[in-house]
Amino acid sequence: MRLIVRKSEGLRGAVRVPGDKSISHRALMLGAVAEGETRVSNWLPAGDCQATLRCLQALGVTLEQDDATTLSVQGVGRDGLRPPRKALDCQGSGTTMRLLAGILAGQAFTSTLDGHAGLRRRPMRRIIDPLRRMGADVEGRDGRFPPLQIRGGQLHGVDYHLPVASAQVKSCVLLAGLFAEEPTTVHEPGPARDHTERMLQAMGADLQIDGPAITLTPPAEPLRPLDLQVPGDLSSAAFLLVAGAIVPGARIIIEDVGGNPTRAGLLDVLKAMSAHINIEDRGTSGGEPLIDLAAQYGNLRGAEVDGAGVVRMIDEFPIFAVAATQAEGQTVVSDAQELRVKETDRIAAVATELRRMGAAIEEKPDGFVVRGPVRLKGATVNSYGDHRLAMALAVAGLVAEGETVVEGAEALGDSYPGFVKTLQELGASIANT
Ligand code: S3P
Repeated sequence: MRLIVRKSEGLRGAVRVPGDKSISHRALMLGAVAEGETRVSNWLPAGDCQATLRCLQALGVTLEQDDATTLSVQGVGRDGLRPPRKALDCQGSGTTMRLLAGILAGQAFTSTLDGHAGLRRRPMRRIIDPLRRMGADVEGRDGRFPPLQIRGGQLHGVDYHLPVASAQVKSCVLLAGLFAEEPTTVHEPGPARDHTERMLQAMGADLQIDGPAITLTPPAEPLRPLDLQVPGDLSSAAFLLVAGAIVPGARIIIEDVGGNPTRAGLLDVLKAMSAHINIEDRGTSGGEPLIDLAAQYGNLRGAEVDGAGVVRMIDEFPIFAVAATQAEGQTVVSDAQELRVKETDRIAAVATELRRMGAAIEEKPDGFVVRGPVRLKGATVNSYGDHRLAMALAVAGLVAEGETVVEGAEALGDSYPGFVKTLQELGASIANT
């Protein structure tokens, strides 16, 4: 699929974005090992979450969909998963593979986790090492890549210092900790998204958080099932938010978005860039804060992002780079080497593709430098099979002279299937062919 995008003006309207991807994965996985029926609404019916759903079905879990976004999970308890008949296909989803690995490490059977070529290139030593220390037998291709073969069983608790600030690795170890004999403590180098911790607590787990140390005591009682309304995905809202900030005459409202502070780095940085962003608190949903967002066009200034600030907006750098091309002065991103092992090498891919559109962007080993503002020009650009790159380049096309063609745009179905339709509703000139 290709997107054809033309320069647009005055995008207007109030929209919602689909359910949060991270929370949608976790609701299914934790619901599966709870006892009883978990009900989930506003679930994200995108490629990555469908992969989790099918893996759980292959492990013997009954999941029923009332409609695309409403489903129920019949929790089988800690010991009720069944050995899968073949390798579990995580498709392109790192969250599916890394979180499920934690659960499978605690199962008394052997399973294999595999995925598409893109996922097969992503680093897995970060979960292999702690799971082995907990007593699971985990093998990867060349010791560090998928497919992963996991022979699980009764685990030991560990005191583990994460080598990278990663919610996927943290969650993997905590989920394995559900199947351990002793408490498990994870120390994080930076505050990665805490959806797993919030959901475990909501399900009755004994989870203590002491600064960067998170301790899970294996539950004596089964996890309680949830009735959960998934908030809108802030990482999907980010594309509309930046469109609102950089498209002349735009004013966009996005309702019912998850406002978890461990995810909200982009909001702080856009404000520091003088963007007209308004945030309204809307209470909580399923233990997660809910906000409404409004973005209005205005002049932006360059900004610097580094250290813990990177972790709080780890998925937003492709669209942040687009915002930076329209900002006055220099924008510098540092300490973001993790971007090189996402769905694609996002530092190289963003720099290469935005340069095709005339952006002044230079790669650094751990980030990039953008000088702006620059009048972008339409070009044919590529998503590299990365959903967030496809959407970021489409938003860049909204402010570029002439026509922008985004190739490989089917990837946006991994997290935001309705992206094109929503932009059309806001008045953007965008179509898929
Ligand atoms: C996610 C964690 C992040 C993020 C990914 C989703 C999660 O990955 O990039 O899109 O749901 O836990 P890392 O933990 O590898 O940084």
